[in-house]
Amino acid sequence: MAKLVDALCSGRSVGNHVLVRIRSWAQAFAIDCKGFSFTFFFLSLYYLTAKKMIMSKHFYVDENIAKAKTIDKEFYTSPDLFETIKEKLFSSSWQFVGDTDTVTNSGDACPITLLENYIDEPLVLTKDKDGEIHLLTNVCTHRGNIIADKPCKVNNLRCKYHGRLFQLNGKFLSMPEFKEVENFPSADDDLKILPLLQWGKWLFTSLNNKLSQEFFFQEMMNRVGWLPLNDFVFRADLSKDFVVKANWALYCENYLEGFHIPFVHAGLNAVIDFGNYTTELFKYSNLQLGIAKDNDDCFDLPVSSIDFGKKVAAYYFFVFPNMMFNFYPWGLSINVVKPISISASKISFYTYVWKENKLNTGAGSGLDEVEMEDEEVVENVQRGIRSRFYDHGRYSVTREQGTHHFHRIIAELMK
Ligand code: FES
Ligand SMILES: [Fe+2]
Repeated sequence: MAKLVDALCSGRSVGNHVLVRIRSWAQAFAIDCKGFSFTFFFLSLYYLTAKKMIMSKHFYVDENIAKAKTIDKEFYTSPDLFETIKEKLFSSSWQFVGDTDTVTNSGDACPITLLENYIDEPLVLTKDKDGEIHLLTNVCTHRGNIIADKPCKVNNLRCKYHGRLFQLNGKFLSMPEFKEVENFPSADDDLKILPLLQWGKWLFTSLNNKLSQEFFFQEMMNRVGWLPLNDFVFRADLSKDFVVKANWALYCENYLEGFHIPFVHAGLNAVIDFGNYTTELFKYSNLQLGIAKDNDDCFDLPVSSIDFGKKVAAYYFFVFPNMMFNFYPWGLSINVVKPISISASKISFYTYVWKENKLNTGAGSGLDEVEMEDEEVVENVQRGIRSRFYDHGRYSVTREQGTHHFHRIIAELMK
């Protein structure tokens, strides 16, 4: 029996004295009592405690980048943590929903699945008769049917299962065969309204609205708010999805440092002034400023911009945990990193053009090639990070502030 206990306990070591104590009790009972029930009880306690500890694991990343080690590799490899991250990082933050052109006219309704395959939350974007846009849960308050299954033009939202009717602002309107039901309808019968942030034509939401939108977007809004954002036009022909065989966070970390540019991106390195590449850190976002080598490849900045006088080739904004806003002189490429599994991610590129004649110039050219180069190195890191010989790395103080900042936010929000 003691051997059986040893074998069962020999899995993951969580390195905690409480678990060690429980395990030794189980072993002692197995030997002394030769009783299966005691053994089973203590083993169950051991595994439940271990599982809870793993799911609420605290990460530590030193505030001082010169002293800090990179985040524990378990963050990228533990299936339990992959689930915890969904709530602690993704539900708490703000996510890209789409743009206002999705619902151009009053009566338009468009179903949206927020982070399909991960968060997988069914929502519906509507424009009511007053022209106001709403983001609602797309789940009927009767028995949970999905209400809108494709984009449509309607006066009200009608559930096709038993005919419950809702206004386009989510308010319950009517329901057949419910006259006898007491205390009905109540506010619980309305569709829940999600917070909606609109910047330019872009829409964002937060599932639990715990963290202020300002912490995520304000710095970007201030910095490039001078751009004619409403004139940016979505280009389906230049937008696409990439599937990367890597954990979502590894893809983000690669984006967060320009350190690898001279090593990985020969084409980009030819147009970017690596010596003047800078990273600025904000609460839950950051900015990498790419400076052009050539005068032709940069923004025509207004005097009101604090960057006036600099040859800015690209503003690379990262908004935690998974959004990238790459502003080029031709427009904007929004990249959203969507976890599929612990070792696979979909990266959606949404392209908005402002100045067509600047397309394919400077840092904003050859983006597919840059993406392929990034994917290759990120997939290599995915293979390496699982090695039994790798636990932590260290940061370059001058070139990896963005990655350190990303890990610090993870450590803060995973508490
Ligand atoms: S589930 Fe919608 S009316 Fe019954
Ligand atoms: Fe890169």
